[in-house]
Amino acid sequence: MENRIHIFDTTLRDGEQVPGCRLNTKDKLLIAEELELLGVDIIEAGFPVSSPGDFESVSEIAKLVKNATVCGLTRAVQKDIEVAAEALKHAKHPRIHTGIGTSDQHVFTKIKTTREDILVRSKQAVKWAKKYVEDVEFYAEDAGRTENAFLAQVVEAVIAEGATVINIPDTTGYCLPEEYGAKIKYLKENVKGIEKAILSTHCHNDLGLATANSIAGVQNGARQIECTINGIGERAGNTSLEEVVMIMRKHSWLKSDTRIDARRLNAMSRLVSEKMRMPVQPNKAIVGSNAFAHSSGIHQDGVIKNRDNYEIIDPAEVGVNESSIILTARSGRAALSYRLEKIGFKLAKEELDVAYKQFLSVADKHNVVEEEQLKELMNALAISA
Ligand code: KIV
Ligand code: ZN
Repeated sequence: MENRIHIFDTTLRDGEQVPGCRLNTKDKLLIAEELELLGVDIIEAGFPVSSPGDFESVSEIAKLVKNATVCGLTRAVQKDIEVAAEALKHAKHPRIHTGIGTSDQHVFTKIKTTREDILVRSKQAVKWAKKYVEDVEFYAEDAGRTENAFLAQVVEAVIAEGATVINIPDTTGYCLPEEYGAKIKYLKENVKGIEKAILSTHCHNDLGLATANSIAGVQNGARQIECTINGIGERAGNTSLEEVVMIMRKHSWLKSDTRIDARRLNAMSRLVSEKMRMPVQPNKAIVGSNAFAHSSGIHQDGVIKNRDNYEIIDPAEVGVNESSIILTARSGRAALSYRLEKIGFKLAKEELDVAYKQFLSVADKHNVVEEEQLKELMNALAISA
C-alpha cells in the first residue's frame, strides 16, 4: 500500500451529537471494543469537560483500548485540556484534540474577537496540550469557510508549537470537492513545516458531499479521515466510515487504503444503529438493507447470469451473507425460477410459464412475494419440490 490512510472514528463524539441519541458508558465501551476490532486507528471517545458522564466514558475507554489511539476533544481552553488529560491518563496512546474557529464568520460573529487573538489562542492551546501528551491534534473549526492564507498562518503556527495532526473541518458541510481538495493542496504547498504533521479531513454532510470531500482531501495529500459509522452526526451527519473505506478499496488507483477489516462493517453498522436507536436508511451505501437487494426484472436477470453485471462489491467483503433477489411485480421469470430453485422447486419451461402468470397476480396484490407465498403457489399448482 503506497499511502495508509488513518481512520479517525468520531462515532462516540461527533456521532453522538445526534439529538436524542445519548449512549451510556456501557454501550460506549461496547462500541469502542468493536471499533478496535474493526481496525480504526483513532477512537475519539468524547468531550471530557462536557459532562461527568462523558469524562467517565473517555476514562473507561482509555483503560480498555489497547491498540488504537484514544482521543478526547477540547476547546482551546486550559480547563478543557486539563480535564481531557486527566480522562486520558490511562490510555496507551492518548491524543488531545484541541482547536478554535478560524473562519471570519466564527472569529467575528461567534467568538467576537480578532484574527490575531485566534492565532495566540491556537498556539497557547497546543502548548498546554503538549504538557500532557505528545500527540496533539489541532482543529481549525469552519476551515471549509476560512480564507486559505489565514488558515495557513494558523496551521504553520500550531505545527511550530508541536501539533502532530492538523484537522481541516468543513464544519458546515459547505465545500465542493474541488474546493476542499484545493484547500488541502494549498496547505501542503504553503505551510512551512507541513511535513511534520498529518493533515486530516473532517467533513460534514449538509450538501451530501462529506464522502466526496474526504476523498478529494486524500487525493490532495490528507492522510487521516475523520468519520462515523453510518455517517451519523449533527444535522446531516459526518463522513460515513464504510463509504470512504470501500471507495479506497474499490479504486486501487487512488493508492490509498486503510487497516479496516471490512467484513465487520455490516455488523458494526447494526450495532451502532441499535444502540443509538437510529435506523439506517434502506438505500444507504454499503450498509443499507437494500444495498445488495435486486428487485427489477432486468437487474435480477443480469445478476443471476453474473453478479458482476450489477454488483461492484461482493457482499461477503462487507459482512453480508449474499445479495438478495426480491420478488415483486417487477420481477421476471429468471428471478422467480431462481428463488423457486433455492427452496427446492426446479420447474420445466411450461410449468414456469404457468407459475409466472399466477405469481404476477399474487405480486400485484403485495409489495414483496415471500417464500411462504411461493410455497402456497406451488401447492396450488400441484408442483412438488
Ligand atoms: O465539525 C467540526 O468542526 C468539529 C470540530 C470540533 C472538530 O467537529
Ligand atoms: Zn464535526
